Amino acid sequence: MMKKIQLKHNYTLPDFSVGWYVLATLDEIKVRQILSRTFAGEDLVVFKTESGRIVAMDAYCKHMGSHLGHGGKIEGETIVCPFHGFCFDPKGKCVKTGYGSKPSPRTNMNTWPLKITGGKKNQDSNCYCEQLISTFY
Ligand code: FES
Repeated sequence: MMKKIQLKHNYTLPDFSVGWYVLATLDEIKVRQILSRTFAGEDLVVFKTESGRIVAMDAYCKHMGSHLGHGGKIEGETIVCPFHGFCFDPKGKCVKTGYGSKPSPRTNMNTWPLKITGGKKNQDSNCYCEQLISTFY
């Protein structure tokens, strides 16, 4: 949730400028790996599914609040919560519960937009720019 800064004359600014922010370098994340990140006051996980898809998602499970980056695992295209085994697809949809019951839309997770940039040689400095995974805020 974006916080606002109240200024004089009823004018508000967001806490963070609107734009793309780096969460990780592409080299940091391997298939089935989960990274924990704090960004703009929010705890996120960034993970790579078995097909290589990269996802950024809120870190705290909507079921009972377990942190997906502490004991969570990747199974196929889903991230599995370590507490009760709920599974979330790359869009944050809860596709399976650990109880075998029908998932509720209330347990769907928030995901963050991602883009990957860089990976090109800079002609001026003659150095290689790493590929960066960024999200929009
Ligand atoms: S807290 Fe995540 S499945 Fe229960």
